[in-house]
Amino acid sequence: MHDWLKGLPKAELHLHIEGTLEPELMFELAARNKVSLPYASVDEVRAAYDFHDLQSFLDLYYQGMAVLRTADDFHDLAMAYFRRAHADGVVHVELMFDPQAHLARGVGLAPQIEGLRRAMRAAARELDLSSALILSFVRDRPADEAMQVLEQANSYLELVDAVGLDSAEQGHPPDKFVEVFARAGDLGLARVAHAGEEGPPEYIHQALDTLDVCRIDHGVRCLEDPALVARLRDARMPLTVCPLSNTRLKVVETMDAHPLPAMLDAGLTLTLNSDDPAYFGGGMLDNFLACHAAFDWDRATFRTLARNAVEAAFIEEPRREALLARIDAH
Ligand code: ADE
Ligand code: ZN
Repeated sequence: MHDWLKGLPKAELHLHIEGTLEPELMFELAARNKVSLPYASVDEVRAAYDFHDLQSFLDLYYQGMAVLRTADDFHDLAMAYFRRAHADGVVHVELMFDPQAHLARGVGLAPQIEGLRRAMRAAARELDLSSALILSFVRDRPADEAMQVLEQANSYLELVDAVGLDSAEQGHPPDKFVEVFARAGDLGLARVAHAGEEGPPEYIHQALDTLDVCRIDHGVRCLEDPALVARLRDARMPLTVCPLSNTRLKVVETMDAHPLPAMLDAGLTLTLNSDDPAYFGGGMLDNFLACHAAFDWDRATFRTLARNAVEAAFIEEPRREALLARIDAH
């Protein structure tokens, strides 16, 4: 099954590019940019990745990304990830990035977007890996700051495929960003949002009702609300589930206790994703393998999950059709 899952053409819809920063590259970029790190070695960094909730992870995640300063840094980060993903059998990646976290350190939007887009073009050319870019708002910062970033991004909008919403969920409901997401819609951008990772099912309702999202990132707490489950099922709303992230952040205790099988039984439209692979102990293939080990799903189930991702992707139609055909033939 390992080889079959590796060969299955996989699309990743929920990935924070800053969360792909492996400690080795963190040290390389720190030296390049003369940024000091609070760690003596790569092993020390990895030893620090022992999280008890989302916030304990976010603290290290924002600290780690401080080594990113130039367009080349963003390019090198994304290219390193694309190579690893390609080796995992990933054929399409939708990468989120957190502009506010970089702007706060004096790194402009131009180097962020230019570096990431350069890597995306190289991945298409060299690896036959398609991709899309999602500008994500940091929900524990003020909504008017998000609005300013959106206006600032106006001149780059042909380089951005969608907006997202991430970071500390509790106490920062989707409603806080109604105006920002309405403006993003007016600008012709698709919308996605993290909801129901640590936050309550009500946040998933809000993301649907007031942000008009076309996908929910995580959504694992939906099972607490049967009416919500029916709503998500009937709308065929894609949920981008990240199983290894959920166990590492103690959203669920163990893979065996993960709600994925129940979500599947409920008829939800699910996809599997890695979220922040450098921090959570595995990329796309590891997430698929962890589900196989825990749930013993058959090939037809994994094919359905892979199809769901391609169907929900921000991708040109001929490419979508070609990828679906490759999944069916696998
Ligand atoms: N930013 C990076 N990873 C995240 C996650 N799992 N949840 C919310 N915000 C994030
Ligand atoms: Zn995420």
